[in-house]
Amino acid sequence: MNRYVNTFIYATAALLIISCGGNDGTVNEKSSRSVQYFPNMYESVGYETYQEAPEDLFKGGIEAQKPVEGTVNRGWMPYEYEDSNEGYASAKANLKNPLPYTEENLATGAELYNIYCGICHGKNGNGQGHLVKTEKILGVPSYADREISQGSIYHVMYWGINYMGSYASQTSIEERWQIAHHVDKLTKELKGEEPRAFEKVTEVVEVEEVSQDMMDTHDGESHDQENHSSTDGE
Ligand code: HEC
Repeated sequence: MNRYVNTFIYATAALLIISCGGNDGTVNEKSSRSVQYFPNMYESVGYETYQEAPEDLFKGGIEAQKPVEGTVNRGWMPYEYEDSNEGYASAKANLKNPLPYTEENLATGAELYNIYCGICHGKNGNGQGHLVKTEKILGVPSYADREISQGSIYHVMYWGINYMGSYASQTSIEERWQIAHHVDKLTKELKGEEPRAFEKVTEVVEVEEVSQDMMDTHDGESHDQENHSSTDGE
């Protein structure tokens, strides 16, 4: 029994000494610990973004490195149709609106159209916007007088066309397609064509079903992919 008491006293004494002492004379600074177990956890060996770093670790001796060639921003996708007559013709023929024609997409498209396009093209797309009426800009056509498709509408928003500038920096991919739906609707109205029926969105359900199937059959694979994408994105 006595032995245990002694051990206890020694251990307590040792703890007391450790907690009072300091290995670098910083005992009185309340913010720093006198003893650091695993000092790497307190003083990180990580490099700051623009800090100098050893050449053999980081190219050019600086931590911040250029992204790998071909890297794109999250949420940004390359647009493959060139700013040329061929690119225009190809987009007009082949590029399709990936968004379903729903009331919601159309409502957002209309809102964005009135912000960005109506000032020239007019609320109903007849080419009589405020800037045209006040003779600030010429040559804005009525959509009814042009051979346009959703693909060509998207293309001219992306690159601009003659006196019309590009809207690629103000709008996202999704927003441009929502606007394209609205321009398409205006064009049909101007031409007196039948309005397009709204699509029922069953897709969301389908997507869920597909991913559920994938989880069941290729469980390991889908996890692998998740890991890749999360590290690629860092
Ligand atoms: C500053 C005025 C202006 C604004 C704002 C503007 N446009 Fe235009 N737009 C023009 C002019 C001018 C033309 C005719 C260009 C040409 O073919 O010479 C045109 C042409 C078009 C055409 C027909 C192109 C073709 O293939 O013949 C479409 C479609 C179009 N604009 C859509 C839009 C959309 C969508 C927006 C909003 C995101 C927009 N425009 C904003 C001035 C404008």
